[in-house]
Amino acid sequence: MTNEVDDDSVDSPISDDDNIEFTGAATQLEWMDQPRHEQIFRDIEEQINSGHAKTPDRSGRKVLDSVFDHSTLMAIYKLMQDGVIEQLNHPIARGKEAHVYHATGPQGAMAVKIFHTTNAVFKNLLKYIEGDPRFTGLKRKHRDLVTIWVRKEMRNLIRMHREGVRVPEPISAYQNVLVMNFIGEEGRAAPQIRHVELENAETVVIDLSNMLRLIWQKSELAHADFSEYNILWHLDEPWVIDVGQAVSGRHPRAEEYLVRDIEKLHSWANRQGVTIPLEDIALHVVDEEGMGWDV
Ligand SMILES: Nc1ncnc2c1ncn2[C@@H]1O[C@H](COP(=O)(O)OP(=O)(O)O)[C@@H](O)[C@H]1O
Ligand SMILES: [Mg+2]
Repeated sequence: MTNEVDDDSVDSPISDDDNIEFTGAATQLEWMDQPRHEQIFRDIEEQINSGHAKTPDRSGRKVLDSVFDHSTLMAIYKLMQDGVIEQLNHPIARGKEAHVYHATGPQGAMAVKIFHTTNAVFKNLLKYIEGDPRFTGLKRKHRDLVTIWVRKEMRNLIRMHREGVRVPEPISAYQNVLVMNFIGEEGRAAPQIRHVELENAETVVIDLSNMLRLIWQKSELAHADFSEYNILWHLDEPWVIDVGQAVSGRHPRAEEYLVRDIEKLHSWANRQGVTIPLEDIALHVVDEEGMGWDV
């Protein structure tokens, strides 16, 4: 146990100073035309477009508009001003909840996970409530939730990284943007393990059991989405990603999630032709002595 503040608290204060807000009667896009924002966008576009070099015919602004909302652009801009991101390069993955970009920073290649601040349902709702004074603040509340989620993923990464779990090294979290080490080579993300043909699957199963053990016993977390989608294969070793949903071992459903993770690993092992009893993996993960698989 560590005696620091509870990393998983969702009530940790969110500083208003962090947010660059544009309020007033302007419609969603009018604010972009204000002269004081012109330079900001030219800067960001210049850097982002260098990663979209293959589509010079499309207006940079259009591409940006479709991917990022204005608070996201401001968050990226802040990270650039702070020197965390030097250049945002090409997209690596586009998902329902987040886009992941390859980026360059002072230490080299990074992955920048940009969470959508509005989901489809919420976006639809916004149409009806925007401009209605009774609902001011709702959009803001939604963004705050995303910010909390990003900080949670950052804290979970820190806790796992600290204990030697193979996860991307966390670099920064700001609003809906998470910055971490890039897992991959020459700008190409390492493949998810489900796409890899493994030479020695048994070793990998043991390695993954060891990581679940570290996550549970040392980081005191349950990953809660430990699937072949969230494990990358890099330099002949598995790397665990996507830890935003991981919960503290004290969470009321932590054990349920842990069991699910163990079952997933077990069934994946089976599909790889590795016949290892479920109980062995479970014992290794939860028991202090374990199966003696640690190297
Ligand atoms: N640190 C990273 N290095 C390289 N690629 C990454 C990194 N983090 C995420 N990715 C890529 O982005 C994809 C989605 O990331 P993930 O964290 O699983 O988000 P989602 O919540 O969308 O599942 C991954 O499958 C991987 O291809
Ligand atoms: Mg994922």
